[in-house]
Amino acid sequence: MLLVTGAAGYIGSHFVRYYLKQNLTAELVVVDNLSLGNLLSLDGSCNSRIHLYKTALGNSDAMAGIFAAHEIDAVVHFAANAYVGESQIQPFKYFENNVIETLKFLQVMLAAEVKQMVFSSTCATYGNPKYSPLNEDHPQRPINTYGSTKLMIEEALRALALSSQLKYASLRYFNAAGADATSEKDCAIGESHEPESHLIPLALAAAMGKSDTPLKIFGSDYPTRDGTCVRDYIHVNDLAEAHCLALKLIAGADFKGDMAESAENGIALNLGTANGATVKDVVAAVEKVTGKAVPCQQVDRRPGDPPALVADFSKAKAVLGWEPQFNLEQVVESAYQWELNRRF
Ligand SMILES: NC(=O)c1ccc[n+]([C@@H]2O[C@H](COP(=O)([O-])OP(=O)(O)OC[C@H]3O[C@@H](n4cnc5c(N)ncnc54)[C@H](O)[C@@H]3O)[C@@H](O)[C@H]2O)c1
Repeated sequence: MLLVTGAAGYIGSHFVRYYLKQNLTAELVVVDNLSLGNLLSLDGSCNSRIHLYKTALGNSDAMAGIFAAHEIDAVVHFAANAYVGESQIQPFKYFENNVIETLKFLQVMLAAEVKQMVFSSTCATYGNPKYSPLNEDHPQRPINTYGSTKLMIEEALRALALSSQLKYASLRYFNAAGADATSEKDCAIGESHEPESHLIPLALAAAMGKSDTPLKIFGSDYPTRDGTCVRDYIHVNDLAEAHCLALKLIAGADFKGDMAESAENGIALNLGTANGATVKDVVAAVEKVTGKAVPCQQVDRRPGDPPALVADFSKAKAVLGWEPQFNLEQVVESAYQWELNRRF
């Protein structure tokens, strides 16, 4: 059985739903301290197959009890704090929650003889791009504490894979977006961060008149097609599929990871679309999908925003046979459906 951390959050809940729909008899153990996320995101036709524990990852006694109570084969680890701006203001919150809690969890997990993990990493581990699109060999020089904490766990996994039988996949997501808002109409799930910092929900809120202020566009003088920042928006269900494939990959008897000649049993994979969209492209997609204008306000650049972050996902395509299915307009359409059916 799988154990999923951070399952009540945005990406975790989409993975849970996707996984249970793909694996019709499977059950899942899910762990979330509900510091963020929402229990309603675990509603749905498959929720009778979820064993939910409300606890923090770093509560070693509770976690040891959970590992003892279930036959866990592998872990998908989403739980973290993930606000770049907040990580600069409260770095120790991020070291504590993303690093220390995860290390405590890994210790209990390995003691329970569970030796497979798929880890939520991020393109924020790369820092300022030296070239674009970014492949996995790009230097990892994060420029904020959030990215540093994710890189620390990538390094911890690498070290543990060398000293134990741990097998892992560090999946470096670009900008997760979109929603599973229509497959279960009464139980739509989608993005609900408080505060929301992601462009697509903010642009939708502005278009739908749910926001008191216009959408802020940070910087219009970047060296990009239209002067605004370029990002790579990947649908959450595409992410969910990649996690299922990564679990199969690392469970395979002949899995050798990145460095077949060494003892390393891990792999790092970018998950994005290779299609960069500017802020103005996203605004145009939101206007097309909603049929409404997005009130915008052009403001100065934000410190720490690289001009462009676009994924080269050819490695994920080669080793997982994975390719994203959703384009920008479909991502925005699904996010819009969620805004229309929002439950939390
Ligand atoms: N959203 C993105 O665009 C994006 C991009 C790259 C990577 N990621 C990573 O993906 C993962 C999921 O992101 P998300 O957007 O779904 O975040 P989210 O905030 O929606 O979900 C995180 C979940 O983890 C739980 N959690 C946090 N700390 C915990 C702890 N110590 N113990 C137990 N539960 C805990 C929260 O309650 C929440 O339900 C994170 O690791 C994040 O860093 C996200």
